[in-house]
Amino acid sequence: MTPPKREERPIVIRDIERISEMRDVEELQKEVWGMSDRDIVPSTQLVAAKAAGGVLIGAFEGDRMVGFVYGFVGYERGALSVHSHMLAVRPAYQNRQLGYRLKLAQRDRALEQGIARITWTFDPLQSLNAHFNFGKLGVLADEYKVNFYGEETSSFLHRNIGGTDRLWVTWLLDSRRVKERLEHPITEKGLPGEWEALLPLVRVGSDDAPVRSDLAESLARDAVLIEIPAHIRQLQRDRPSLAAEWRQATRWAFTEALAAGYLVQEFYRLAERDRPRGAYLLVAGKTLEDFLEN
Ligand SMILES: CC(C)(COP(=O)(O)OP(=O)(O)OC[C@H]1O[C@@H](n2cnc3c(N)ncnc32)[C@H](O)[C@@H]1OP(=O)(O)O)[C@@H](O)C(=O)NCCC(=O)NCCS
Repeated sequence: MTPPKREERPIVIRDIERISEMRDVEELQKEVWGMSDRDIVPSTQLVAAKAAGGVLIGAFEGDRMVGFVYGFVGYERGALSVHSHMLAVRPAYQNRQLGYRLKLAQRDRALEQGIARITWTFDPLQSLNAHFNFGKLGVLADEYKVNFYGEETSSFLHRNIGGTDRLWVTWLLDSRRVKERLEHPITEKGLPGEWEALLPLVRVGSDDAPVRSDLAESLARDAVLIEIPAHIRQLQRDRPSLAAEWRQATRWAFTEALAAGYLVQEFYRLAERDRPRGAYLLVAGKTLEDFLEN
């Protein structure tokens, strides 16, 4: 009998229990982010966080861990939360819905514990993460953190990009928005018709450089877009000064818009072949509480 091809072997999502599996989580952090020993979350911390109510779930092909999600219990805005510190899938296993399945399992576990929100941070210049978080999971964001982890860390995602800025996102686990989004993720490319005429506060110019719009004029409207390039990792590698320009421009745009009371509500991938890019949609006058209804 011929053995099944590697990609056909089932991947099982389950809790990580054993210390040896937590050691595998250490190794996976180094593989996925290229982190130094000093920057990884060590197994002793994973043991303690899990024992205190944290959520630690792995994706396994047989005995081999190919992904994990890790979150610890938090207390935010007067309520318990799970703060999801890390989600990683081995590069050879990415784009096969494993990240998505890990997040669904994390959601189930939090809800079982009576916790209704999961928060995490991500770099808003990473379009894969933006689509994953907003388009597939339905998060919302109302906070922007400048240099959250300092100027740089050993993670290769943090190099050549002008700082470790993060959007702080909230996943309202039991909300109608999230339940509907899990049923109907955003799969198509392009802006929905109602947003097509919006003015981007920052847009991708013809040479891939960021182009800023007039702040007062943009923020006089009910909704605004912030564009990002589709492949920031290429810029980090080949044109680091341009990647840093993108950090400056988007830091300005998010900081100003959030201070003016906008909420980051969606991310759309835009299809144009000559300038592949994405756009965040921010809407004025809404808060997370407006989406709590289930
Ligand atoms: C983020 C990560 C966990 C996602 O895991 P995954 O198993 O590849 O995720 P999925 O297959 O469920 O979904 C990936 C989605 O991004 C899309 N995508 C891929 N490249 C993209 C890009 N450049 N821009 C936008 N979307 C992109 C895929 O098409 C897919 O969406 P779809 O299902 O609508 O087609 C994984 O890429 C990873 O480990 N990255 C490195 C570490 C990291 O960034 N962790 C998260 C932040 S802490």
